[in-house]
Amino acid sequence: MVDVIEKKRNGEKLTNEEITFFVNGYTDGSIPDYQASAFLMAIYFQGMDAEEQASLTMAMVETGDQIDLSSIKGIKVDKHSTGGVGDTTTLILAPLVAACGVPVAKMSGRGLGHTGGTLDKLEAIDGFHIELSEAQFVKQVNDLKLAVIGQSGNLTPADKNLYALRDVTATVDSIPLIASSIMSKKIAAGADAIVLDVKTGDGAFMKTVEEARALAESMVAIGKQVGRNTMAIISDMSQPLGYTIGNALEVKEAIETLKGQGPSDLTELCLVLGSKMIVAGGKANSLEEARTMLESVIADGSALELFGKLIEAQGGNGKIIQDTSLLPTATYQIEVPAPTSGYIAKMEADDIGVAAMLLGAGRATKDDEIDLAVGIVLTKKIGDTIQQGEPLAIIHSNTQDVERSISLIQKHITISNDPVSSPQLIGEMIT
Ligand code: URA
Ligand code: CA
Repeated sequence: MVDVIEKKRNGEKLTNEEITFFVNGYTDGSIPDYQASAFLMAIYFQGMDAEEQASLTMAMVETGDQIDLSSIKGIKVDKHSTGGVGDTTTLILAPLVAACGVPVAKMSGRGLGHTGGTLDKLEAIDGFHIELSEAQFVKQVNDLKLAVIGQSGNLTPADKNLYALRDVTATVDSIPLIASSIMSKKIAAGADAIVLDVKTGDGAFMKTVEEARALAESMVAIGKQVGRNTMAIISDMSQPLGYTIGNALEVKEAIETLKGQGPSDLTELCLVLGSKMIVAGGKANSLEEARTMLESVIADGSALELFGKLIEAQGGNGKIIQDTSLLPTATYQIEVPAPTSGYIAKMEADDIGVAAMLLGAGRATKDDEIDLAVGIVLTKKIGDTIQQGEPLAIIHSNTQDVERSISLIQKHITISNDPVSSPQLIGEMIT
């Protein structure tokens, strides 16, 4: 291991054998934390090329279970977002793309953050369960084209261990390490094609477009190296996506979007990502053709109907798609008044996310309980006008003690006297 550390420290390229030796040795405990830490720091400073990143990714994949989706007919397409605030796209995209004939075998997580993950959001639906055996999962995707389950306990254990070590050695924000970490989980989950939504801006992991582009390019290169058709878009997260932040609130917003009545930014992002998934899934020859298909399954109600079938198949109350008042609701709805009049210039997504987390919408540590009913409904987007005293947001809470959330929202939504243009949602595409 000393030789491998030294080689990377000196900026040399590592072989597949050397990288696999490290991953297996760290996983079986024969390589200690201090050597792994030094090695991660060497990668942090010297980087890794696409081939090394692919070796690291596949070595991590092979330490755990790999989901075999080969008995599902068709090209299986997965989507991954690098995380934002109020991002409910999976709930919309899964039925949307499946309604166009692309099988969606989705493994989702809970995660830490401003709201729960996709699984928590689905559990806001009364009765919905996310435990299916592998056989049930495969059968449901063959029957319905759609299933969503929790991540298997033993997917990429090497990534789990290395991530925990990176967290305490200041080596999380290394692009080769992030790219291989994300891609190892996607590859182990079994998809043939992967569409990535790399977020940039205040509410994202990658704060600048340059960093987001570098991460996207790394992940696409890894996918190509290992024979999975992978592509990425860069999308803006300088303001929250849609209007809602909170679990049940986001389910409601997803249902509205499936009805064609959702926020324009959320709808557009789903159409762009969905078009890529449909082309990758071989159901359309061009993005234009794919977009027309998506628009028609929204217009004729079949995407929404499929969401209802997914809910019923996994034990939930499918009536929710017609009557969102069946979702959990919070006791209090409290307006956050605008302190001045003007144009919305900034809505700092991460701080508004924190305001939602303080209400109980998300987890700070993995054992925190989530309150599925609470959250924030924004009334405006960047560029809109507002009058003093008009609500900037409505807080949905189960306590009246929401002063900290109110002040965070008022502090991190900037109102200016001069007109402001809205940020461009979809940036470059990387293929
Ligand atoms: N998300 C991941 O899954 N891995 C990283 O390294 C960073 C973010
Ligand atoms: Ca901020």
